[in-house]
Amino acid sequence: MKIKVKRYTVPLVGEKNTFFKEKSTKAALAKFIVNTNKFSMGKWCAKFEEAFAILQGRKHCVLFNSGGSANLALIQALQNLGRLKKGDAIGFSALTWSTNVMPILQLGFEAIPIDCRKETLNVDADCAIKHLETHKCKAFFVTNVLGLTGDLDKLKKLCQKKSITLIEDNCESLGTELPAGKAGNFGTASTFSFFVAHHLSTIEGGMVATDDHELMEMLKIVRANGWDRNLHPDRQSHWRAKHGIASDFHAHYAFYDLGYNLRPTEITGFLGHHQLPHLEKSIARREKIFHKIQKTVRDNSHFIPLEHGHIKRVSSFALPFIVKTPKLRNIYLKKFEAAGVETRPIIAGNMIRQPFFKKYSSKKHELPETDMLHHCGFYCGNNPDYTDAQIAIIIACIK
Ligand SMILES: Cc1ncc(COP(=O)(O)O)c(C=O)c1O
Repeated sequence: MKIKVKRYTVPLVGEKNTFFKEKSTKAALAKFIVNTNKFSMGKWCAKFEEAFAILQGRKHCVLFNSGGSANLALIQALQNLGRLKKGDAIGFSALTWSTNVMPILQLGFEAIPIDCRKETLNVDADCAIKHLETHKCKAFFVTNVLGLTGDLDKLKKLCQKKSITLIEDNCESLGTELPAGKAGNFGTASTFSFFVAHHLSTIEGGMVATDDHELMEMLKIVRANGWDRNLHPDRQSHWRAKHGIASDFHAHYAFYDLGYNLRPTEITGFLGHHQLPHLEKSIARREKIFHKIQKTVRDNSHFIPLEHGHIKRVSSFALPFIVKTPKLRNIYLKKFEAAGVETRPIIAGNMIRQPFFKKYSSKKHELPETDMLHHCGFYCGNNPDYTDAQIAIIIACIK
């Protein structure tokens, strides 16, 4: 039996496009594949890491095979370094992706959801700190949602004051800038995703950015089986001496701490490096579409307008809408569907309503604002390749 797939006029993910500048990227990729002799992690991954670190303004970047892997590796690395201990409570933004929360549970921590404001989709620093303190959280894995953020500067200062390690899931906000700096540069480390439809696509891929040298080294150990092969020779000597491994014969197969195989391929590195020069144009186009849509939203009293005045540059990931009641959401979802515009919940709604969370966390939490977003929010895509006609269709739906 043939399964019918609905074709949308305005799909969430570009149906034709995996990459911004699709045609030239595919041609470059084909040439790379024909000419390279090495596909496993190597010089192209390193080149992409270096270029991304410069772009983001961070000292170190470590490339992974997905954003979810970057999240897992970051929590594992902090645990390996003893900065987080099994049983510690870790806060997370209740509006996030599954693989932001899952490593917290998988690695034996207590996962504490923090409510997200309906006007910003993100946490509010004062409110977050209050809950982080109540639950004695040792770390906060904040998510910068859909290219928007909360008051990250204040959050950073408050976390520092209370000795809470702040880490950022910036998988949806590459390029977003606040007056105090780029999203992804407020925490000890931040993660990025390069999955299709993200600001930069390597098909699959992820990154951790940090200024912390010790953490960078541990991330490399975690990424590749727990061994030292991707460390600087001086550091390999350090690890080998520390564990009394004298011969190269054994050193090549010495596993120093808990890890996985989360390595990217050279295809990831090549694509990332190739896409990077196009990123600025892609962000600028997404930003323009976002502001155009927000202008229309502000004129319709069914909608709650988004607050983004505190953000210097919104590197929009998707176009979120919050209406005042669940009934209104049904009406608008039908309107969008009839116009051929694909929609979905805001990320995945309130994470604590997900079956996996209920299974592994029994504590009760009140999250009124995230619940409101769960019942009254939705989003459609924002794609730099959208035509004016496609944008006009979205605008017609919200007028
Ligand atoms: C906030 C957030 N974190 C993590 C991820 C996981 O990224 P990936 O799909 O590359 O594993 C996503 C995916 O879209 C995301 O939205």
